[in-house]
Formats: sequence, structure tokens, C-alpha cells
Amino acid sequence: NDRYCVFGHPIGHSKSPVIHAAFAAQTGEALEYTAIEAPLDDFAGAWRAFIAEGGRGANVTVPFKESAHRLCDTLSERARRAGAVNTLSLGASGETHGDTTDGLGLVGDLHRHDAAIAGKRVLVLGAGGAVRGVLEPLLEAGPASLFIANRTAARAEALAADFADLGAVTGGGYDTVRGPFDLVINGTSASLAGDLPPLPDDLFAAGGVAYDMMYGAEPTVFLRWAGERGARGIDGLGMLVGQAAESFALWRGRRPEVTPVLERLRREL
Ligand code: ATR
Repeated sequence: NDRYCVFGHPIGHSKSPVIHAAFAAQTGEALEYTAIEAPLDDFAGAWRAFIAEGGRGANVTVPFKESAHRLCDTLSERARRAGAVNTLSLGASGETHGDTTDGLGLVGDLHRHDAAIAGKRVLVLGAGGAVRGVLEPLLEAGPASLFIANRTAARAEALAADFADLGAVTGGGYDTVRGPFDLVINGTSASLAGDLPPLPDDLFAAGGVAYDMMYGAEPTVFLRWAGERGARGIDGLGMLVGQAAESFALWRGRRPEVTPVLERLRREL
């Protein structure tokens, strides 16, 4: 069987092996997918060792997405812009190709929930690696405007400038957020700590959607807050399964169905 894995540190709670095993069963692809905890100081060595043992491709999660980006021989355009790689593939002549599927996972999940992006006023919270990784597919979906708000305003402004050629994207601090928005995407790591960025109560337009890239057995702090202000909430579990499906498609040339795997994961949260 062809071998794949996910690299992270820590990696113990990763759902990727379960997701890819389900995709393999669904498509009849013969592959093996494991979780590997790479050493913090030698991601490249871990990837080389995996190749030497017959590895064909890998997903990459925290904190190695930038290290993975650095070691690639070739990069997709979106991975180059994202400055991060979540999907490594071994090429025919032994070269390593890097891509990033997080943004496709996000946009696909919004589509699955009938949450429109085209022509909409979009707000993105956060300006770290997670947000950088999804901006290109988001902007390509054609929002009327996209504002990036961040605690450190300069980071949001710089990020907006980096993507300005792709659409109407601007950035600033939370004090400069002026709603209403049709779609608000939380890409900060604040909710991990149970925190919420300071946001105005009238953030959402009528019929507005709140998307949190995080997920959990219970609604996140952000989704609870948004629900109390009338927004429809969606958590990031579908983005997780969606990015995995896109990686699987890159490796195997077949795109598995997300919904049955997502429903199963939801039940097991
Ligand atoms: P990631 O890879 O998860 O994006 P990151 O690059 O460290 O990690 O970015 C974390 C993001 O969450 C940043 O936008 C950060 O804001 P700053 O750039 O101002 O640091 C944001 N963040 C983290 N904790 C936060 C909090 N308690 N309140 C608001 N924003 C927070």
C-alpha cells in the first residue's frame, strides 16, 4: 500500500488518520495513513525519513506548515502566496511538491452550507498563518469587500497589502471594524483561550453568517456570541474534512465525498 501521514507536534489528537481511512474505504484506494510526531528542530529530516520508508505524501499541521513550505522543490501558486504548506507530495523524480488545501476546505464548507461569498461583505478576524492560508481562495470567490481585523493592526494591514492584487481587501485594528457584514470568519487563536476579539454588537447584516475555523463538541465562544446577535453559526469541522478531501484528491486523483465522513466525525466529537 502507498504510505501517507500527517506530521505535527503534538499529533496525538489528530483526526486525519480516521478521515483518510474513511476516504480510502469510500474510494477503494489502497493506502495507509498514519500520524507522526516530527521533532520540533528537524521537520525536513522527518519528511526525508518518511520518504525513505516508502512515503508518498503527507499532511502538515501545527507547527510545521512554514517549515514544510521552506523544504519544497516546487510550490503551487496558492502555497507560495500562503507561505505555508499543508500537503506534501513526492514527485516522479523524487522532488517534493507543496500545496495548501486549507482555503479550499473553507470555501467548500461555506458552499456546502449555502453561505455565499460572491458579492458579500466579508470580515476576517485574525492575521496569522491560518488566515494567510485561506485568503487566496476567499478572494477568488469574489466578495464585494474583505476586511481583515487583527489585534495587531499593522499585521492586518500588511496582510491586506500582500493580497491586494486579488480583490478589494483592506485591514486594520478591531477599533476600525465597521459593519454590517454578511459573513464573519474567525481565524484567530483567541477562542482556544476562551477569548473573543472586541467586536461591536451590530456586526452582522440580516441573514449574516458566522464561521469559526475552530470546532469542538460545544459551540465555540465566537459562535455563541454570534448566535446571540442573530447570526447563523458554522464551525470548522467541515473545513477540516474538506481540506483533507482536497489533499486526498491531489495525491490520488479522486475527490472523496465529504458529507458522510463529516457526519461521522460530528457524532464522535
Ligand atoms: P495561527 O497559525 O493560528 O494563525 P498565529 O500566526 O500565531 O497562529 O496567529 C494567531 C492569530 O490570533 C493572530 O491574528 C493573533 O493576533 P495578533 O497578530 O495581534 O497576535 C490572534 N490572537 C491570538 N490570541 C488572541 C486574543 N486573545 N485576542 C485577539 N486575537 C488573538
